[in-house]
Formats: sequence, structure tokens, C-alpha cells
Amino acid sequence: MLLTREEMTFDFAGAKLDPVRDKKILAWMMNQFLYGEVTGIQIGHWLYDAPDLTSARFLARQAVEEFQHVDNFLRIMAMLGVEPEKPNGVVQLLATGMMGGSWAEHVALEMAAGEGFVLLAFYAIIDTLDHPGIVEILKRAVRQEERHVDFGEQQTMKIIGGRPWLRRRLLGLSLVWVWGVRRLAGFMSKRLPKDHPVLSRLPKFLEHAIRCAELRMQRIGLLDRPLAELGAARRAALVAEAYAGKLGGGLARLVTWPLRILPPFRRRRLTDTYLEDPAVRALPPPPRTAASPDEAST
Ligand SMILES: [Fe+2]
Ligand SMILES: [Fe+2]
Repeated sequence: MLLTREEMTFDFAGAKLDPVRDKKILAWMMNQFLYGEVTGIQIGHWLYDAPDLTSARFLARQAVEEFQHVDNFLRIMAMLGVEPEKPNGVVQLLATGMMGGSWAEHVALEMAAGEGFVLLAFYAIIDTLDHPGIVEILKRAVRQEERHVDFGEQQTMKIIGGRPWLRRRLLGLSLVWVWGVRRLAGFMSKRLPKDHPVLSRLPKFLEHAIRCAELRMQRIGLLDRPLAELGAARRAALVAEAYAGKLGGGLARLVTWPLRILPPFRRRRLTDTYLEDPAVRALPPPPRTAASPDEAST
């Protein structure tokens, strides 16, 4: 990953969440996480769009992991004695409403930025929740989430190389994503108890999350200076360009639809390209048997 655990850690100054006293807020948090894990169904869409065998394998494994996380959160909710409930609207917008329209948007916004944000929240729960059983479950899940974020970062770096227009489009959409997180921060700061040792720090935690997202954008190469130096007009232009690009792409797809089902114009999927894929060419070594020479020599 491009950010370390230390960089992503927020200092709660030793404050703790108590599973009994803070049951209500923990129920709210776990319900947002549960929803996020269920959005793992979107992987099915991206698996069909996977550009190569390595990505397809990664997504297949990720889907299994996300549905293990669904079970994890259901188990955690049972441990806390709370029920599954509807998620918050802003969380739904960030996780589903902003579902990427392309592979590039998926890896940049949903995996690097989105899962990066969730990972930060998991670290925060691990660091503050006074319940060793739940913390243990989350520690296992974060190892998998770290790999998802890393994949998103690497794929984004690969795909923006030599495509400045795509870099600008992803940056514009990332700015909307940051706006969504700020809205979430605003929503939480109005409703959270000001005298709670952990919850009173959540608005600052969300500021930290935005700083981490900004740092990630810089390290990926989406952003070449701090967000504050971008200026309101430049930001608005980037967002407008990103959405104009999405709209234009959508219209072009609509107009060219009859053509795109014909073989020369049809989208090439892995079923068309797998024989050119280096991962297919790199044949796995034959299975070792009792009679194989290296085993015979031991
Ligand atoms: Fe997950
Ligand atoms: Fe994930």
C-alpha cells in the first residue's frame, strides 16, 4: 500500500468504545460496514470487465473475502446484541450511487479511495473498541482489505500512465467523493455527543481520513499538489470536465450501440484475449510426484 498503517492511524489518545455503553453508536457503525460489505456484489460486474487474467483472479478471490466480511459483521452484531438495519443515505451514495462507470473509475474510486477509507475506519475500531473478540475478527479482515486497496492503487497508477485526460477525470470524480465524505463528517458532527471520549473526536478523524485520501491521490499521481492549492475554480472545472466526460461517454455508447454488437467493434473481454495474456503463457510448474527427481534426492 502507498500509505503505512502508522500514517493511516488516528490518535484517539487511548480513548475507548465500550460495547455496552456505546451499543447504539456501534450498531449504527456496524450497519454501515455491513452495507459496504454487501456492495461486494458489484465485483460480479467488474469480473466480467476484468482486463486480464490476474485481475480476474484477484476479483474472484476478493468476492469470496467480501462475503466472508458480511458474515463477520453479522457475527459482530450478534456479539454486540444488535440487529441489521438500513444504512445511512450518504453511505449508500458513496458505496452504490458512485459505483464506477469504467474499470478505471472502479479501481481508483471504489478500491483505492473507497476501500482505503473503510480500512481507516476498521483501524480506528481496532484501536478503540474494548472487545478483544471483535477486534480479533477485524484484524483478520484488515489484512484482506489492505490487499484490496493495494490492488486499486497499483491498477490506478498503471491505467493513468500516459493518459492525462483520464488522470483529470479520476481527479474530478475523486473531488466529488471527498465532498461526500465531508458531508458525512457534517452529518456526524451535528449528531454526536460532544462529551464522549471517542465520538467527540470523530469529526477530526474524518478530517484525517480526507488528508489520507489526499496523500493517496498524490502518491498515485492523480494530484500533483495539495488539494488546498487547487483553488475553487480549478476544482469546479475538474468536476465539470469529469461529468461531461462521463455524459459524453454515455451518449457515445448509446449512439454506437448497434455497431458494438458486431464482431470488429464488440468489446473484447477476457474470453477474447486470454490467449494473449502473459499469465496464461506463464504455465504453472508440473505437480511434484513421489517419482520427481528433486523429491527422490531428498
Ligand atoms: Fe470487505
Ligand atoms: Fe474490500
